[in-house]
Amino acid sequence: MSVQNSPINTDSWKALQAYFTQVSKIPLRMHFSNDKDRFNQFSVRDEGLLFDYSKNHIDKNVIQLFKKLFEEVELNKSINALFNGEEINHTENRSVLHSALRNFSESPLHIDGKNVRPEIENVRQKLHDFSNQVRAGKWLGYTGKPIKQIVNIGIGGSDLGPKMVTEALKPYQSKNLAFYFVSNIDGCDLHETLKVLNREETLFIISSKSFSTTETMTNAQTARRWFLQAGEEQDIEKHFVAVSTNKNAVSNFGINPKNMFGFWNWVGGRYSVWSSIGLPIILSIGFPNFLNFLKGAHAADVHFKTCPIEKNIPMLLAAIGIWYRNFWNANTHAILPYSQYLRHLPAYLQQADMESNGKSVANNGENVDWKTGPIIWGETGTNGQHAFYQLIHQGTEIIPCDFIAVARFNHEFNNHNNQLFANCLAQSNALMHGKDIKVVEKDLLEQGKSLHEAKSLAPFKVFKGNKPSTTFLLDELSPYNLGKLLAIYEHKIFVQGVVWNINSFDQWGVELGKTLATSILNNIEKKSADSSLDSSTAGLLHAFYKWS
Ligand code: F6P
Repeated sequence: MSVQNSPINTDSWKALQAYFTQVSKIPLRMHFSNDKDRFNQFSVRDEGLLFDYSKNHIDKNVIQLFKKLFEEVELNKSINALFNGEEINHTENRSVLHSALRNFSESPLHIDGKNVRPEIENVRQKLHDFSNQVRAGKWLGYTGKPIKQIVNIGIGGSDLGPKMVTEALKPYQSKNLAFYFVSNIDGCDLHETLKVLNREETLFIISSKSFSTTETMTNAQTARRWFLQAGEEQDIEKHFVAVSTNKNAVSNFGINPKNMFGFWNWVGGRYSVWSSIGLPIILSIGFPNFLNFLKGAHAADVHFKTCPIEKNIPMLLAAIGIWYRNFWNANTHAILPYSQYLRHLPAYLQQADMESNGKSVANNGENVDWKTGPIIWGETGTNGQHAFYQLIHQGTEIIPCDFIAVARFNHEFNNHNNQLFANCLAQSNALMHGKDIKVVEKDLLEQGKSLHEAKSLAPFKVFKGNKPSTTFLLDELSPYNLGKLLAIYEHKIFVQGVVWNINSFDQWGVELGKTLATSILNNIEKKSADSSLDSSTAGLLHAFYKWS
């Protein structure tokens, strides 16, 4: 049975399918030889961000068909619902308003009949005051020393965003502070971090929207016990602050609610980097830089709401993604930042995209009969080139790639930067053009191989090419540009969720594992294996008991 409001029943989807059959055999490089102006036609410049989508299997018709598809699925209506705070996260009865956190408008924004703008401003002010105190060395630990080491304890959205952005904006970081991020329940994570810390100068930020996530609570309790080996109960408030929506749980933990930075249930975990969850970022780069980060994201919101699809970067990104996922049958999508500072970006976007669009039930509760979110993965260039690019170039999968490069860096090793960008361009070039067998054979003959050797070796050295990629070039990795880039990806994910007719804002798929972990832990604590457990689980438990 096909789902009501199924995208695949729209006229434009059918037209895209027919168009795919017609054009999919056109080699990418032919698009370029047929149109000398292709780069200008298929790129968008937005302040210090250049979005080049010309190396994709698209033409103007594809974009027009997606425009129709977006009209048919009433994308505009959904965009309005998103920004107006309607409860579009319908399985949790929540609005999705992280964009309000980066909007400095004074006009009221009502959620459940309440204007939330003053609350947002109050929390911002509190973050501002606290971060200024810590950064100025005025927030003192229990022995009167200023804070020098900051440990964020959180997981998922309460870890990945702050960690990624703090790392990405390291050139803006305060020289007086060192940052650590602990997320894993694996004790090694906390153990290795605590080893290098000095209790007198350490501030723990316990970050958890729910303040009930097992990993975070376990790590937080252990950190608390570690602190109390030297400090006293009454010193806790100097060394532990919380970021959460759950005031009761925070105060039950022993953190003074005056040291809690709140946010709201209309901010999803994976979209929370703009909220108090960004506290480590603020402590690292200072409040004015954080404001620029928010402003960059807000610029992307305005762009998304106002630009026509032909110039709308998130919509184009979404269209290209759907084109490959649903028509070209691409299963994965690679994020390849050519900046070591962006090394945590693939993991961040993995959560943003896969937790949002990794769904197989449509908004009306029926199973979808079309593909939804792809597998997102990646690694920085040039590291990935020496690991998995082999498969992208010569494997059997089609893997659309997003290259993210930066023109200007805050270091003096210019020759490195030139090599880095040369590699980035070389990869998208090689993916598109490839190298055909005749050229390979000619090269081998020129290298002195015999005709026989050249013929037998050539097939292994062929690059089929015709592999698509998109490139973002940032003039610099500034807070503003980074904020804009992340918001662009958020909106891309949103558009895709609208087309796929799924709820991009819940994450029920993480629940079952959490529940089972609790019941398996009961077994482990009793060194037993319930008869209800399957033989594999029981067998592994017994081996664990023997070896642990
Ligand atoms: O288990 C998934 C999840 O709920 C994510 O969506 C979230 O970012 C993460 O756990 C952490 O949740 P919390 O901030 O409530 O600890």
